[in-house]
Amino acid sequence: MLVTGGTGGIGKATALGLAALGARVAITGRDRRRADEVARGIEAAGGGPAAVFVADMSSQSEVRRMAEEVLGQLDRIDVLVNNVGGYWNTRHVTADGLERTFAVNHLASFLLTDLLLHRLIRSAPARVVTVSSHAHSGGRIDFDDLQGERSYSGARAYNQSKLANVLFTYELARRLRGTAVTANALHPGVVSTSFGAEDPGRAQRLAVPLLRPFMKSPARGATTSIHLASAPDLERVTGRYFADCRPRKSSERSSDERAAARLWQVSGDLVQAT
Ligand SMILES: NC(=O)c1ccc[n+]([C@@H]2O[C@H](COP(=O)([O-])OP(=O)(O)OC[C@H]3O[C@@H](n4cnc5c(N)ncnc54)[C@H](OP(=O)(O)O)[C@@H]3O)[C@@H](O)[C@H]2O)c1
Repeated sequence: MLVTGGTGGIGKATALGLAALGARVAITGRDRRRADEVARGIEAAGGGPAAVFVADMSSQSEVRRMAEEVLGQLDRIDVLVNNVGGYWNTRHVTADGLERTFAVNHLASFLLTDLLLHRLIRSAPARVVTVSSHAHSGGRIDFDDLQGERSYSGARAYNQSKLANVLFTYELARRLRGTAVTANALHPGVVSTSFGAEDPGRAQRLAVPLLRPFMKSPARGATTSIHLASAPDLERVTGRYFADCRPRKSSERSSDERAAARLWQVSGDLVQAT
């Protein structure tokens, strides 16, 4: 199993939780030291030696290099947990000239999944689990300004990226029909992590410390990811959205098949272009 963004927060807790169930877990991270530390935790939790892959996933060439390393080291990938993500209050531009929220939260998972897809199919039954958010329900895909060039708000960019996660998951599930690879998305809950800490807005700086005691711990926030990655009764369940380990209805916009197909096309163009 491979968990992206496995060096902190929900991803780290997902990796440790899966290891405690006896799974062989590999993680991705952008910091070698933190990643190696989590790998030692995975081993201590009973998951055996954990492979670590390091890349700044805002960069498509880094995602491609890392995918090559993954394919070189992991003969089987029966679960890919697309967990990497974040919130940035101000607009940042990646090495590829793309807005960072869209690049990290959606395009990085889109590209990595594509690059690993044959290995997942070969390892089937297999699963692609993508960590979205309830925030997707406030999102809309602004095809005329996907990169927030005309106007940017951290919340709008985040909600759009999390809607993209659900649209991507449903479209992937349709495209994987006839294989034994499933694709599901989830909301982890409101979880006390480093989420948004790189570039928080004023409201976040004020509110998060007050709300932290009421948030889920990372271990609790990881339960739905772990459930989707491992529950035997979900082997054939695909194209669904989960919260609290249960299937839930996602927003109406997330079920727009034309928008999903268009997003797939545009995302494909954006990752081919580099
Ligand atoms: N926390 C919540 O309440 C909440 C709610 C709904 C959905 N989510 C979703 O849950 C997922 C995990 O978030 P979290 O709360 O666990 O946040 P987090 O504590 O900030 O962890 C994010 C992970 O992604 C990694 N990462 C961030 N940018 C990266 C980049 N450019 N390249 C490679 N790795 C990168 C981080 O690496 P470092 O360790 O180096 O920082 C870390 O491992 C995200 O998709 C988020 O949208 C969170």
